[in-house]
Amino acid sequence: MEKKNIDWSNLGFGYVETEKRYVSNFKDGAWDNGALIDDPMITMSECAGVLQYAQTIFEGLKAYTTEDGHIVTFRPDLNAERMEASAKRLEMPVFPKERFVEAISQVVAANEAYVPPYGSGATLYIRPYMFGMNPVIGVKPATEYQFRAFCTPVGPYFKGGVKPLTIRVSDFDRAAPNGTGHIKAGLNYAMSLHAIVSAHAEGYDENMYLDPGTRTKVEETGGANFLFVTKDGKVVTPKSDSILPSITRRSLLYVAKEYLGLEVEEREVYLSELGDMAECGLCGTAAVISPVGKIVDHGKEICLPAGMTEMGPTTKKLYDTLTGIQMGRIEAPKGWIHVIK
Ligand code: PLP
Ligand code: COI
Repeated sequence: MEKKNIDWSNLGFGYVETEKRYVSNFKDGAWDNGALIDDPMITMSECAGVLQYAQTIFEGLKAYTTEDGHIVTFRPDLNAERMEASAKRLEMPVFPKERFVEAISQVVAANEAYVPPYGSGATLYIRPYMFGMNPVIGVKPATEYQFRAFCTPVGPYFKGGVKPLTIRVSDFDRAAPNGTGHIKAGLNYAMSLHAIVSAHAEGYDENMYLDPGTRTKVEETGGANFLFVTKDGKVVTPKSDSILPSITRRSLLYVAKEYLGLEVEEREVYLSELGDMAECGLCGTAAVISPVGKIVDHGKEICLPAGMTEMGPTTKKLYDTLTGIQMGRIEAPKGWIHVIK
């Protein structure tokens, strides 16, 4: 298989159109058989449910070329399960887990020429999503849906790669108590756009959102969960019902405990205790683990001792172990690696 002529090492996190996408339609209470298609465009009613009332959910995962030349994905079953939870919360039909994993395999295999080579620093980002398609004008769920998955080769989510980020404590909330913060709904991202544009305009890389109920506890950023390392080497991550249950974060906690022998804690993390942390990272499929060097809370700077020049030592160990597992350099826990070819 000849790879596309792409400057893999200089890719950012952007959309590059690839050749095939997987599509399945839901109508009259059932999903059709689904197929790979060529057309990247979607035609739908001007009154489609997704256009009027934002009835759309998505997932994000990556395909990797391993050291020994296989193409694999990482825990796609967990993306399928999370998409099921998202679908139920937005009154959408569930796309079955086996079909989800099969759709991902098909779309990656069909775009093999776009899977970045081992060692290039790039990966193939896969975006499965589902949206209400038929006309909806009264506020109610659509009755017809499309599930689609496309892929695009990507580099680092944050410009500058592994250089520590500066983030600010946001005055805007990302999620409401008892709202939709725990699912991957497009609406959560639409309402974060103003906050991210204003953070960038003020020179910050991202927002730290606080719990919407009391605004005293750390939640997450617009696209990643937090991981902290305490000064005595414990890995701590915020526990909250209104953050997205990150597959990367769940995997990192396992890696910290079982591979690195570290103490881990999932608990409420107060903004007031961040001065006691040694390291901070943003973790997610797109972000992998992106180190944070400085958190600014309304002019008050919290500088992580790990500094602004490189990843802290524990974050680096976590990063190396996780990416080692994903790229086949380190043996994975059973069931984590889904081999496509
Ligand atoms: N939090 C938010 C809001 C996200 O959008 C994402 C990205 O998927 C994550 C966390 C990280 O989740 P995961 O590790 O499953 O990609
Ligand atoms: C992911 O990490 O897959 C996400 O969906 C985050 C998004 C902000 C790009």
